Amino acid sequence: MNDTQQVAKTKIFDNIIEAVGNTPMVHLKTLSALLGTNIYAKVEYFNPGLSAKDRIAVRAIKMAEESGKLKPGGTVIESTSGNTGFSLAIACIVMGYDCILCIPDKSSKEKISTLKSVGARVIVCPSNVKPEDPLSYYTQAKTLHDQTPNSVYINQYFNVANAEAHYASTGPEIWDQTDGAVTHYLAAAGTGGTLSGTAKYLKEQNSEVNIIGVDAVGSVLKGYFDTKAVNKEDLQPYLLEAVGKKFVPGNLNIDVIDQFVRVNDRDSAFRARQLAKREGIFAGYSSGAVIQALFQIKDQLDESHMVVVLLPDHGSKYLSKIYNNSWMQKQGFIKSISQYTSSYKIQKRLEKVLNKYVKYNGLI
Ligand SMILES: Cc1ncc(COP(=O)(O)O)c(C=O)c1O
Repeated sequence: MNDTQQVAKTKIFDNIIEAVGNTPMVHLKTLSALLGTNIYAKVEYFNPGLSAKDRIAVRAIKMAEESGKLKPGGTVIESTSGNTGFSLAIACIVMGYDCILCIPDKSSKEKISTLKSVGARVIVCPSNVKPEDPLSYYTQAKTLHDQTPNSVYINQYFNVANAEAHYASTGPEIWDQTDGAVTHYLAAAGTGGTLSGTAKYLKEQNSEVNIIGVDAVGSVLKGYFDTKAVNKEDLQPYLLEAVGKKFVPGNLNIDVIDQFVRVNDRDSAFRARQLAKREGIFAGYSSGAVIQALFQIKDQLDESHMVVVLLPDHGSKYLSKIYNNSWMQKQGFIKSISQYTSSYKIQKRLEKVLNKYVKYNGLI
């Protein structure tokens, strides 16, 4: 391609939010060889806010404008583990609104700093309280909305703009990028929007596409999917950010989901690190959760399948956590080299498939 063709193909965006979506799909060759199937990653950190949440932010604000709930000069308020907040803050700059974000204290400090960097007012709230507690990030966001004239509480858990955004963009992109050959779709569920919105579109194209939700140990979503009831005994504190919930969000549509897999904090952290080292894809904690889920369902997969995993965000948001060995040690994930090597069987399997020795230091 010469320079003239290159220039002709370059599209100039009018503002940064026009660059949302149309993220690449990448063949994960090492993982595919390891699991004996064909795995493709929808890499959502190519969005301007480094996450899939950019897709819902603009749509939610536009819907609030159209409904008359948000008028010029108004304020957008949200409870967020970080990514939706960052996407909303960027959209607010472009669309001319103030932005107030309530974030749980378990979110990484990188996420909190980035929200402030794009001009949002940030309120850090305790994580380990019930959603209805006056101090929870949900309740504080609602209270602020009640107290702030011309404000809108986005409420991504119940806002239809969330799943609709993925139905309108993520689903069609995956269908198009795979030429309709996708057989399995795996996504982490927090609000449920990414999973359910995309799944609804894919199921409408081909009802045989297998939809697999990924939940965290300590959350109620898988239990709800299996039993149609919220089982309080499922609840326990956990570290995974933005995966799972203590309640069932309205954006989770279990009618379009075939299966839920529950993954733990430790395995998910190691899988994210492995994805970075083995595939060169530097993704976030929940991406590790989705890769871990793949290993847990590996018996269901074979070489005739085309498996799409959605990787929600970028690893830079977790430098102080899963990509930090001191943090990993503090959580008890790395105790000693011998403990790690004996319990982490993937190392041996990698050696076999790649036919070369992968050193401990090479993996983490
Ligand atoms: C990093 C990350 N992973 C997964 C999710 C879950 O996506 P959803 O809320 O669409 O279920 C989120 C949502 O905030 C997220 O930020």
